[in-house]
Amino acid sequence: MNWGIRNRLSQIMGHEDGRCVMLAVDHGYFLGPTEGLESPREVISPLLPFADSIMLTRGILRTCVRPESCVPVVLRVSGGSSIIGEDLSKEEVIASIEDAIRLNASCLAVSVFIGSRYEHQTLMNLARLVDEGERYGIPILAVTAVGREMTRDSRYLGLACRIAAEFGAHIVKTYYCNDFDTVVRSCPVPLVIAGGKKLDEKDALKLAHDAISSGASGVDMGRNIWQSKTPVSMIKAVRSIVHEGLDVGAAYSIFVHEPGNSNIASELQK
Ligand code: 5RP
Repeated sequence: MNWGIRNRLSQIMGHEDGRCVMLAVDHGYFLGPTEGLESPREVISPLLPFADSIMLTRGILRTCVRPESCVPVVLRVSGGSSIIGEDLSKEEVIASIEDAIRLNASCLAVSVFIGSRYEHQTLMNLARLVDEGERYGIPILAVTAVGREMTRDSRYLGLACRIAAEFGAHIVKTYYCNDFDTVVRSCPVPLVIAGGKKLDEKDALKLAHDAISSGASGVDMGRNIWQSKTPVSMIKAVRSIVHEGLDVGAAYSIFVHEPGNSNIASELQK
């Protein structure tokens, strides 16, 4: 691995425990102004101090994140279909490596849709990006996007993660599932998990905890943070699991005891 890639990877996973809390705010690239992320600038700014890195498109980076911000950027560079379009898996690379360098990206994110109609095209996107990343010293994060018809089980996710790693991805993002440790074991690069649809906060913290306990290197979480009524306390609670090894109960009490959640705290005391 070249020095640039190692250096940039350490910006993402370089916390002393080798784990990461990546804040995912890239959803608009196919969902538009999705619930909770209608005004990205307002959502992102209070969360940044608690994120090790941020995953987003260049449009939102340029308009909603101050260049003086020191947060490492994971730039989403695949897209091309919308939630109301023909097929979400029909993606191409939507930003050049030169622009990624101008934006000082620490990592590039590309989705692969294993088992979908455009599987081949998305794998070729990954292969080309890995080559470009190697040329310029930028690591690649492969997102194992799951089509509606796919089951999120360890067999499918293990296959998708392994293929992404075999293609040269430096980090793979996937979903937590039963027997997640088997997915981790068969993937030779760090895995981070997406949060998925909004859950009750305690359940989302359990998901993060179970994933980390099974060997995930971190989270790349979006909706379960910024769709929470108190996003800052939620990201702090997630951090406590990823970086401090807190259990779910202890992390939940960080969430509950933040100002803004006094109603939940007093409910719990009854
Ligand atoms: C969309 C993505 C999202 O970044 C990913 O799904 C993480 O967000 P969430 O925790 O809301 O699932 O890659 O394709």
